[in-house]
Amino acid sequence: MKIITSVAELRAHILRWRTQAGLTAFVPTMGNLHAGHMKLVRHARDIAERVVVSIFVNPMQFGQDEDFKNYPVTHERDIEALADADADLLFMPDVSEMYAAGPEHTTQVVAPTGLRTVLEGEFRPAHFNGVTTVVAKLFNMIQPDVAVFGEKDFQQLLIIRRMVSDLNMPISIEAVATVREADGLAMSSRNSYLCAAERAIAPRLYQTLLDVRDLLLKSEPDVDAVEASAMEQLRDAGFRPQYVSVRRCADLGMPKAGNEARVVLAAAMLGSTRLIDNVKVSST
Ligand code: PAF
Repeated sequence: MKIITSVAELRAHILRWRTQAGLTAFVPTMGNLHAGHMKLVRHARDIAERVVVSIFVNPMQFGQDEDFKNYPVTHERDIEALADADADLLFMPDVSEMYAAGPEHTTQVVAPTGLRTVLEGEFRPAHFNGVTTVVAKLFNMIQPDVAVFGEKDFQQLLIIRRMVSDLNMPISIEAVATVREADGLAMSSRNSYLCAAERAIAPRLYQTLLDVRDLLLKSEPDVDAVEASAMEQLRDAGFRPQYVSVRRCADLGMPKAGNEARVVLAAAMLGSTRLIDNVKVSST
């Protein structure tokens, strides 16, 4: 596996690749790779001749009080895992390579208002513009045919799909299902922040989402009441929930007709760790 840290070297490499047949698949990450990331890489490996992974902890997508400075960095372990998974190229730029003028002065790609301002956007107002800006830059540098994202960050996935469509980027976005621990907790780099007592409570987030899903499948309940009772369930378990919300899968709007595909999304603080998760409302 080739490891590249500069944009100039990356471009030269990509230029050579573009004269060859076959697809390039790209998996953007912030490192501290776990089984969820590795599933994305395996998917990329299955569908493309060339697999590029990036590791870049993007300062633009963190709020002032968030964990940018403490974000777990495990480069040696990540490199080994990616080499084992047969990735072809790992791009690991530093902040000055990605943002020559500094992240606060860079040109931004602004995520669409409707999707950017709800749910995660209410609690992390600058987050999605940071994500769309860095992902657009990485797409420009790598020029992949396909990019692979996890469904764990469901709102991010929809925003990236919209960005690619709105900006006419010739990239197909593939989604991969969330990977969970044996007790149901969605894999996340931030799980490593949980102490033993919090780790024991954490799977209740997923359980609460499953309970909401089951209620929605059983009957046509008052959705506001179901959401409120799920928030209460999380509070009782020891979380400080930020939202539990039933939305349309297609655009995170409020579902109207009963036959629209729906997803239940939640975010909750557990101690000082922020966890998010989501479950589609279908019986499978
Ligand atoms: O999902 C993530 O890890 C990040 O938001 C991403 C897509 C790598 C952009 O920094």
